[in-house]
Amino acid sequence: MCGIIGYIGKDNSVKHLIEGLRALEYRGYDSAGVAFFDKENALMRVKAEGRLANVEAKLANVPEAAGSHCGIGHTRWATHGAPSDTNSHPHGTAALQIVHNGIIENHVELKAELVALGYTFESDTDTEIAAKLLDYYYKQESNAPDAISRLTGRLRGSYALGILFEVEPNKIYAVRKDSPLIIGIGKGENFIASDITAILRSTRDYYQLEEGELATVTADSIEISCNGKQIVKERKTALWDVEAAERGGYAHFMLKEIHEEPEAMIKTLRPRIKDMLPDFSDEKLDTSALAKVERLHIVACGTAMHAGLIARGLFESLARIPVEVEIASEFRYNDPIIDESDLVIIISQSGETADSLAALRLAKEKGAHTLAIVNVTGSSIAREADSVLYTLAGPEIAVASTKAYTVQTSLLSLLAVECAMLRGRINESAARELVTELYERAPKAVAEMIDRADEVKAIAEEIKTCEDLFFIGRGADYYLSSEGSLKLKEISYIHSEAYAAGELKHGTISLVVPGIPVIALCTVPSLIEKMGSNIREVTARGANAIAVSFKDVPEANKTVIIPTIDPRLAFLPAVTVLQLLAYYTSVARGCDVDKPRNLAKSVTVE
Ligand code: G6P
Repeated sequence: MCGIIGYIGKDNSVKHLIEGLRALEYRGYDSAGVAFFDKENALMRVKAEGRLANVEAKLANVPEAAGSHCGIGHTRWATHGAPSDTNSHPHGTAALQIVHNGIIENHVELKAELVALGYTFESDTDTEIAAKLLDYYYKQESNAPDAISRLTGRLRGSYALGILFEVEPNKIYAVRKDSPLIIGIGKGENFIASDITAILRSTRDYYQLEEGELATVTADSIEISCNGKQIVKERKTALWDVEAAERGGYAHFMLKEIHEEPEAMIKTLRPRIKDMLPDFSDEKLDTSALAKVERLHIVACGTAMHAGLIARGLFESLARIPVEVEIASEFRYNDPIIDESDLVIIISQSGETADSLAALRLAKEKGAHTLAIVNVTGSSIAREADSVLYTLAGPEIAVASTKAYTVQTSLLSLLAVECAMLRGRINESAARELVTELYERAPKAVAEMIDRADEVKAIAEEIKTCEDLFFIGRGADYYLSSEGSLKLKEISYIHSEAYAAGELKHGTISLVVPGIPVIALCTVPSLIEKMGSNIREVTARGANAIAVSFKDVPEANKTVIIPTIDPRLAFLPAVTVLQLLAYYTSVARGCDVDKPRNLAKSVTVE
């Protein structure tokens, strides 16, 4: 949520800031801004509401930007104060400028103190309060590290801060708490960034900044200190390269990422399969926890939570473990009943989602064993969980998550088989058959649906003008409906609801009017007959029922036929159909597919 970039070095810094912000725009995109030193070392600031292009347009009239070698930039997802020029970052005073990700929780109290000291405020942001408090401490301390340390001592909440001081035109300072920040290592140039994708064009090497550490970055040096003492950090290298984070000829990141699904599934599964059986021995995964566990909690947000719903079906049916799937933002406040005999799985693409991280910390506090399923290496959730299994999807840039869901559910399916074997619920040959389907058949089935995208595109044309629609299903298909519905509404702005097919008639069917599209998922063989009856209930009221199934569903107006696969894994090709449907509907309605309104990719506020 929000993106930070900083550059210092031999090149034009504003060029790097804009490049970095473009790569970060998916994290938040309702306003953006940069602060930089010009040739004469004057600290300048340019910011604008709306997309990055608005800042670029303003910069075109700022000739000083051409001579800059040091600067910081920010792309914002509004929390405190509406998107506006004034609320955009950077914020500061004559002495300093800062960019901030996160939320300062005690902003009201801090602002009151500052007002009493004579400070005035132009924006509605918590960030401006932090900037002015830093200004106050800087006036007292006359040196940056001490002023920053006094500031962080006062801030409650989460922050990643990039800071420029007017009197130090050759330095960028950075600190963080509960919001990610890395220091990129270049040659004769260095970076700060909230996300590796922002700097991949220049370097893959970085240091991970930890809570309590202060980074002082110049063109030729990176010093990281903790409580005033310099520390030696481990240098890390990103696994992703710049191509992986670029669009590569596709019209949108979302389409590219759907196309990457088959390969991402294979990459994620391959290292964990031996002799067509699950093998997590290279993972430092405590399999004894899986063998003994009495109850499983899966906690996540958004699409990752929907992946958890699919996993629940598999863990319960294959391994016979009771599973609770919980929305991370609710989990903490429901006083969950967890103890040492429970396993808590946190699923997160970014590994930084604030609610999921908070849920992980609570689960650990309560003594449960925690396992993270995460895509971003070294992210907070990955580092804090007892065990971690990385999905190997590569960077996911489109705000609407697609390949992350596919690899999360693939990996969790494999884990469910492992768990069932450990608990003696499935024999080797049955496990081998299912793993073969997962590893060999499922990626092909997904690829086949991608090849047949035109069939889905035609349906998108049919539904593009509707204002409401339903997704219905039973069992695993109901869980899948939730994801299909979320995908469609978030990027096409069509109001849509996912309903358990049998429940629709208990009230909500009153919303079914002639012509309303109803997407009926029918991939669970034992439930297809029952689905047929539910489809008839809506077509009798004039709905346009579109089924997704292995074979033609005569009760529906039309069926998208998915390839034959073990029905327990049918959600994989079926979700690709739903993702493509959302994608083409969004395109047909002229929406901004990769950056839907009001959303952000990585939600690092609670
Ligand atoms: C945001 C994104 C969703 C994502 C959710 C959880 O809302 O827009 O696509 O599913 O966060 O993110 P995570 O990184 O934890 O999977």
